[in-house]
Amino acid sequence: MKLLDFRKKSISTSDGADDGHEKMNRTLSVFDLTLMGVAAVIGAGIFSTIGVASFNGGPGVSVLFIIIAITCGFSALCYAEFASRVPQSGSAYTYAYVSFGEVFAWIIGWALILEYAIGNIVVAISWSGYFNNLLKGVGLELPYWLSTGYFAGLEDVESITKHVASGEVLTSQMTYVLNGFKEAPDLFGHKLLINVPAFLIVVLITWVAYIGMQESKKVSNAMVILKMLVIALVIGVGFFYIDTNNWLPIGQNGTPSFFPNGMGGVLMGVSAVFFAYIGFDAISTTAEECKNPQRDLPRGMLYALLICTVLYILISLVLTGMVSYKELKVDDPLAYVFEAVGQNWIGYIISVSAVIATTSVLLVFQLGQPRIWMSMGRDGLLPKRFATLHPKYKTPSYSTIVTGILVGIPTLFMPSSLVTDLTSIGTLFAFVLVCLGVLALPKIKKEASKYSIPYVNSRFVLPIIVAVFLYVTWDRLKGSVLNIENENFHEVLFLLFTGTLITFSIFASIRKFNAIPILGALSCLYLMIEIPALGWFGFFTWMAIGIIIYLSYGIKYSKYKKNKRNDFT
Ligand code: ALA
Repeated sequence: MKLLDFRKKSISTSDGADDGHEKMNRTLSVFDLTLMGVAAVIGAGIFSTIGVASFNGGPGVSVLFIIIAITCGFSALCYAEFASRVPQSGSAYTYAYVSFGEVFAWIIGWALILEYAIGNIVVAISWSGYFNNLLKGVGLELPYWLSTGYFAGLEDVESITKHVASGEVLTSQMTYVLNGFKEAPDLFGHKLLINVPAFLIVVLITWVAYIGMQESKKVSNAMVILKMLVIALVIGVGFFYIDTNNWLPIGQNGTPSFFPNGMGGVLMGVSAVFFAYIGFDAISTTAEECKNPQRDLPRGMLYALLICTVLYILISLVLTGMVSYKELKVDDPLAYVFEAVGQNWIGYIISVSAVIATTSVLLVFQLGQPRIWMSMGRDGLLPKRFATLHPKYKTPSYSTIVTGILVGIPTLFMPSSLVTDLTSIGTLFAFVLVCLGVLALPKIKKEASKYSIPYVNSRFVLPIIVAVFLYVTWDRLKGSVLNIENENFHEVLFLLFTGTLITFSIFASIRKFNAIPILGALSCLYLMIEIPALGWFGFFTWMAIGIIIYLSYGIKYSKYKKNKRNDFT
């Protein structure tokens, strides 16, 4: 038996009408898909993680929103071409199968679990945080030990201890955490701390995903419209509270600057800001439930990304214009800025909207993960049960329940900080492979119903990009090369990236490749190198586990190997 198999699925096989699998209900229009994209994108990122990113980067974080939107835009174009040409449920997993073959398909499918299931752990924890705020607002408060996961509690206590050791005073919130931790019941010599609301919302959402796309769609559309209205309110009202001095705080060199901590400070927010954009690709998992996937999926994805980009840039400007960026190291930055200007009622509306926004993200991801597993089950890389559809609801019921368990249990005790980096790095990795995968697709004649990325000759673009990159980073590069023996992990990654950029650019220019997928892959790679070392460690560990599972199961039970199917090339 060959150890690794690179045999590819043929595109005709992936076109849905292939293999006698049960058919799903086709109910989604371009409007539903756009709303579903927005539902998946606007959530924990903009309501929570943007706070720390703004604290580190200052007002300049809005530039990071633009940079990451461009990166996601390249990837979205590649996703759109795939979604149009391979309109099947597995998203990037299926795309990798047709462009690179089985091993890569498995690798990408495994990485996507980081995006959807592990990402949803972060979202559920953020949901729980805002939900607890809402309860407090109406005089109901869950004890700390029932609303915080064990590891999150440990992290909180550790950070407060450091805070106190550095001579800072305890805030009321810190006192609440310390008392809550102390009063938590003991279990086998450890504190018992579980995040019950996070777990319960995952159970509820899993149930909605289980009973069907039609029901999920209605719930999702209603939530999205509401959250967009509230975000418009934040931008509209916040605009009147902007103090433009906040946009030019005193920077590192003692002069007013939009980038008070330099570009380094801005880039510290890569993982958080990228997390805020994750999700537009999730709608590609619903290809088999779209009325016209080839026309509507590309449009839905690009419209969703565009809407979110505009909203995000405006929100980041409002946020950093209303208060000093130094105040933004909070978990609920949008609510905080309105409370800071005395508008507590808006803060409360924002908390309500955050709960709704994160609920819709949870729903879309909880729909996406089972559909990827369903495709993997169909191909025999996972047990067949993962592919079975519910006889009445026509949803991948078994996969949906497994997803519920995989997301629900960790939300009881995990801290979200640990998993945000992991989610971002896994998603960026999937995007890199999708971008490169487009180049491996066979050429097609342009048909009215199919979308393909506009062609831009690499030869005219990449040399300029390389020259600008080298010019801008020359001092850093020189320093890294001269000091190579003592470099830290990030500088080594930076050097590797520079080498990759130059090699790709030469190769792509010689072969006259389309520059858009290449730029997509390179920009995602660049964002990856900005993610902290611990995230990389977790990512490698996760991928190693995936490869072991493939070698012990998928490689043996892969459907085309068992049946010698002739729809692989
Ligand atoms: N983009 C999604 C969110 O921010 C994952 O919640």
